[in-house]
Amino acid sequence: MSPLRTLAFGALVLPLAAHANDPYSYAQPDEVRVTHLDLKLKIDFPQRQLDGQATLTLDWKDPKANALILDTRDLNIASVESVDTNGKTAPLQYALAARDKQLGSKLTIQTPQHPHEVRVLYTTSPAATGLQWLPPAQTADKKQPFMFSQSESIHARSWVPLQDSPAIRFTYDAQVTAPTDTRVAMSAPNDPKHPLNGDFSFTQTHPIPSYLLAIAAGDLAVKETGPRSAVYAEPSVVGKAAHEFEDTEKMIQTAEKLYGPYRWGRYDILVLPPSFPYGGMENPNMTFATPTVLVGDKSLVSLVAHELAHSWSGNLVTAASWRDIWLNEGVTTYVQGRITEALYGTRQATEEDLLSIQSLQKELPSLPENAQRLAPKPSNIDADDALSDVAYSKGSWFLRTLEQRFGRETFDNYLKSYFNHFAFQSITTEQMLTFMKPNLIDKYPGKMSWGEVQDWIYGTGVPKDAPIPDSPNFATIDKERSAFLAGTLTADKLDAKGWNTQEWMYFLDGLPDAPPLAKMQQIDAAWHLTGTPNAEIGMRWYVHAINAGDKSAWPAAAEHMTRIGRMYLTMPIYAALAKTPDGLAFAEQVYAKAKDGYHPLTQQAVETLFAKAKASKQ
Ligand code: BES
Ligand code: ZN
Repeated sequence: MSPLRTLAFGALVLPLAAHANDPYSYAQPDEVRVTHLDLKLKIDFPQRQLDGQATLTLDWKDPKANALILDTRDLNIASVESVDTNGKTAPLQYALAARDKQLGSKLTIQTPQHPHEVRVLYTTSPAATGLQWLPPAQTADKKQPFMFSQSESIHARSWVPLQDSPAIRFTYDAQVTAPTDTRVAMSAPNDPKHPLNGDFSFTQTHPIPSYLLAIAAGDLAVKETGPRSAVYAEPSVVGKAAHEFEDTEKMIQTAEKLYGPYRWGRYDILVLPPSFPYGGMENPNMTFATPTVLVGDKSLVSLVAHELAHSWSGNLVTAASWRDIWLNEGVTTYVQGRITEALYGTRQATEEDLLSIQSLQKELPSLPENAQRLAPKPSNIDADDALSDVAYSKGSWFLRTLEQRFGRETFDNYLKSYFNHFAFQSITTEQMLTFMKPNLIDKYPGKMSWGEVQDWIYGTGVPKDAPIPDSPNFATIDKERSAFLAGTLTADKLDAKGWNTQEWMYFLDGLPDAPPLAKMQQIDAAWHLTGTPNAEIGMRWYVHAINAGDKSAWPAAAEHMTRIGRMYLTMPIYAALAKTPDGLAFAEQVYAKAKDGYHPLTQQAVETLFAKAKASKQ
């Protein structure tokens, strides 16, 4: 079960092939490209909307072009004008097409004169797919409202009209007004000492793709964790967060030693309310993170290693399309493992690798052949659903295989040269391969054949000789689990006192899908998993409990599902409940109460799941 795969319930609607290069965007980058965004935003909490003015600097590529086409979703467009190099404005004709369910509304702006800049005045919808608006009651400290964006994959268009494709990079300036007392943060260098005067300015000097545009605002305190890092979180959370993430500077230094300087300046982490729909998001300069990793023992901080690693793989060298997403997520998962190994040792890193390998192996048989490829053939799946364990797990497994074959030193040098060669570019898998052939495969002959590389990238499944690391601890857990299931070891005799989070995850992942109820009760009596504050353990526990038919776990499961909106930690529980009529009815009750606190993406995922569950019963 992958972090993201579990939310792949989105509608598989056929998009009109919007553009040959990026089927998820209407933009025509061969005609014109946005090179800079100047954004003015007013955050209107009562209306749950952003009042926006986006001024796009244009680089005209095709003399015959006569329109600028932008991606939008649920935006109210008030006016569109051209701006010449002297700042003189003139109104432009435009047309907003009907809303496509996946892609939103194509905005066609007539621009026969090829203006230097185009300015769009607009407001967002309270239901913008890329924003969540939280009333004070849904925050930790309950004093102020909170809002945040989540642009990846194709949700930036719901809060800024732009060319919403990862192949197009632009710098940005933003000026944001907000109620005083509110701190605003964006995916650009943030000033931890900025006064709360309702007026914030940001400058991102590096060209970034649109999915890395990000904003958050609320009752945010700041605590430094190093010379170039801080955590941002609500006042009651910031201390705990600073403690959990105290190794941030060490992580940055580890990554720098391996892959060259961190090029973005500051690296801060924003801890969001529990409704944040993902684990983490690598917004430049300001990683967004779920509070569910704040478990007190740093056992889940490889999430930070992961999002930080994206500062090289993803934010510096970017997948040019969602089809190439493994270049972001697979390479990052590999780098994450290297940071984790250097800081927390091989036991931790190997266990995380094995959990990822195991969930890939579980998932693969259920995936259509095309989805098993690192670089799939063009298809019609939803951009958010292009993500699966394949990108993360098979991608990182490929890189670990390369590391083993070529040796660590050679491979580290190669990867560093790859990041430098493609720095601040968006590339396809094929561009990556074109670089790899002369610089790795042919340069060190006899280590890996080109055919093997092709098999990893374009083949289905995983090559049979893919190396699987040893974990003595996991081997012991396998033995204990078997003995427990066979009845030769009672639950209280499991040697679980010293198990870390990953070892519990592994123990639970290895139980049968629907364990015997008596066994579940034994485990709970000995280890008290019902009501656990560790949501990684809780999610797995409740799924088993529900499958085992243990209704006594339902109230605690409901509490978990109401408190946490991170899709990967709630969707599997909804899915388990939805398998029986009673369970489905209960899940619907839970959802009715939890819904207002969920992000639009989580709402959509749950509702799609219910619809499917009902359809399959008819
Ligand atoms: N970039 C992803 C999050 C993402 C991917 C959001 C695609 C929307 C669409 C982020 O870096 C990520 O992978 N997050 C993981 C955590 C990680 C430790 C595996 C997550 O959110 O679970
Ligand atoms: Zn990632």
